[in-house]
Order: sequence, then structure tokens, then C-alpha cells
Amino acid sequence: MLSAVERKIEQFIAELNDKEVISLYAKLPHGKRLRAKLILKIAGSKLSVIKTAAVVEMIHAASLLHDDVIDDAYTRRSKPSLNALYGNKTAIMLGDILYSKGFLELNNISTEISKMVSGAVVNLSLGELKDVSLSKGFNTDKEIYIEMIYQKTASLMEASAGAAAILAGKEKDIYMTYGRNLGMAFQMIDDLLDITMDAETLGKPALHDFEEGKTTLPYIYLYEALEGKDAQKLKSLHKKTLCIEDQVWIQSKMKEHDIIEKSYQEAKRLIEEAISLMNDKGEKELSSIAMAMIERNF
Ligand code: IPE
Ligand code: IPE
Ligand code: MG
Ligand code: MG
Ligand code: MG
Repeated sequence: MLSAVERKIEQFIAELNDKEVISLYAKLPHGKRLRAKLILKIAGSKLSVIKTAAVVEMIHAASLLHDDVIDDAYTRRSKPSLNALYGNKTAIMLGDILYSKGFLELNNISTEISKMVSGAVVNLSLGELKDVSLSKGFNTDKEIYIEMIYQKTASLMEASAGAAAILAGKEKDIYMTYGRNLGMAFQMIDDLLDITMDAETLGKPALHDFEEGKTTLPYIYLYEALEGKDAQKLKSLHKKTLCIEDQVWIQSKMKEHDIIEKSYQEAKRLIEEAISLMNDKGEKELSSIAMAMIERNF
């Protein structure tokens, strides 16, 4: 039923009645449609569900358009990002258009769904702001990192699952917890992949986060593990363009202190909790989605 979501998005875009937007949108690669899949798995395929999934994917696409401007990222979904192709202004404006059309369409679903999804976008935006503010220094506070990734990534997945549960007449809170855990683990894995994967597999540059000043969970753990000179060296590389030697040094220190495994276990704990919640509900497919999340490599 994912194709029904694709058609709905195309319809929403066509309704904007603007050739430039239609052509720009057509150039955006689609992504994994993870949030739409989640919604369909929870709530089936009635029209309100398809609309909600379409809106959430448009909002997600808008957040990525803005995120790539914010992060100075020139690759997205294995292709040049829209800001790389057409500049920041175009990326921001298309993002605004997708957000606004999404919010407009939420009004045609229900007030409850509208509040749930738009509330998450407030959080997402606050999370992006926090991410950037934190990256001005070397953040070593894990609690702050956790709060930030909840806001920027998990809140939209939590709301997607919650909205779907409402539409399906299922217990909202359990599905929201599932979505939140999934989102937290998803961002933790994203942050890990930035360190462990090569740019080609990732479809975006590797070790980019640290160069941008982002001390994600593995960097927080690595800093805790390093002593003296090594700790100082890690701090000195923060927010700098990394030469190959520096990249190799960071990766080897991560290995030496078992940091990747430690961070991975953190994501895994959240996924296991999500799986157990869904197993209790007999939602096998939702358990599988959660499982696939920690096994992904892009
Ligand atoms: C990327 O999300 C942004 C993060 C929250 C890490 P996805 O990996 O779901 O993006 P697409 O839509 O599949 O490209
Ligand atoms: C997630 O953060 C972006 C959003 C929630 C909008 P990242 O900045 O880590 O995402 P990627 O790595 O660019 O996909
Ligand atoms: Mg980014
Ligand atoms: Mg970002
Ligand atoms: Mg990332």
C-alpha cells in the first residue's frame, strides 16, 4: 500500500499547481519511507491513514531539506543534496512549501492527528536548534544528547506511531513508546554509521558529524574512556576538517575502547523494549521493523 502513499504525495504536490515545485520535488530521491511503513503497518490503508502517511513523509522530506542546509551536507540519499544542486535558498523554500502543505492537509484529517503531528514538528525544530547549539562546543553530557535526539528524530516517529494508533483505534501510549524507542535507536544507529561506514554505503560523507562539531554518543563515550593526551587530542580535532590520519586515529581509538559496541548496545536495549511491547500485542511485523532498524547499514 506504499504506492497509495506515493500517489497521495504526488496529488498533494500537484495541488500546489506550481511547475517549479513539481519539477523540484520530482528530483528528490524517495528514501526508505520508514515512517509511512510504520503508519501503514499499525493502521492499515484507509484514506485517513494514507493521508497521514503522505503528510508525515512530506514533513520528513522538508526536515531533511532544511537539515542539509543546516549541516552543510552535499549528499543525501546517495545523490547530491538539493542545496548542493540548487543552493540553500531553493532548499529552504521547498522545505517551507512541503511543511506548509503538510500542515494544511493535517486539518483535513482530524484535530487530534493534526495536534499530534504538528506538535512533533515543533519538537523536531527545537531538536535541530539544540543540535546546532550543542555543536558549538564539545558536549560531553549524555543526558543532553538523549534529549536532543528525542526531539529531532524520535518525536516524529513517536507521533507517527501515535497518530496511526489513534486512526486504528489502538492503545495510543504503547505505540507511542514503540515509536519513540525506534526513533531514539534510529538516530543512535545513524550517528554510529557516520563513524563506521564509508561514504559510498552511507550515501552521505562519513565522519561528517564530528567535523560539524557534533559529539554524538560514541564521541561522548570515547571522551570518557580516553585519558590525558588522547583526550586532549580528541578535543583538539573537534569541529576541524579531518585528514585521513586523524580519521584513522579516531576510528582506531573507538575500536580500542570498544565504543562502537557500547553505543550499539544502547540502541539495542531500546529496540528490545520496543520489540517486547509489540510482541505482547501480537504485532509481529512491527517487531520485525524494529529488528531491521538495528541491522541496517545505511
Ligand atoms: C534520515 O532519516 C534522518 C534521520 C532521522 C537520521 P531516514 O534515514 O529515515 O531518511 P530517508 O527518508 O530514508 O532518506
Ligand atoms: C537528523 O539528524 C535530521 C533530522 C531529524 C531532520 P542528522 O543531521 O544526523 O541526519 P542525517 O545524518 O543528515 O541524515
Ligand atoms: Mg544532517
Ligand atoms: Mg542534522
Ligand atoms: Mg546523521
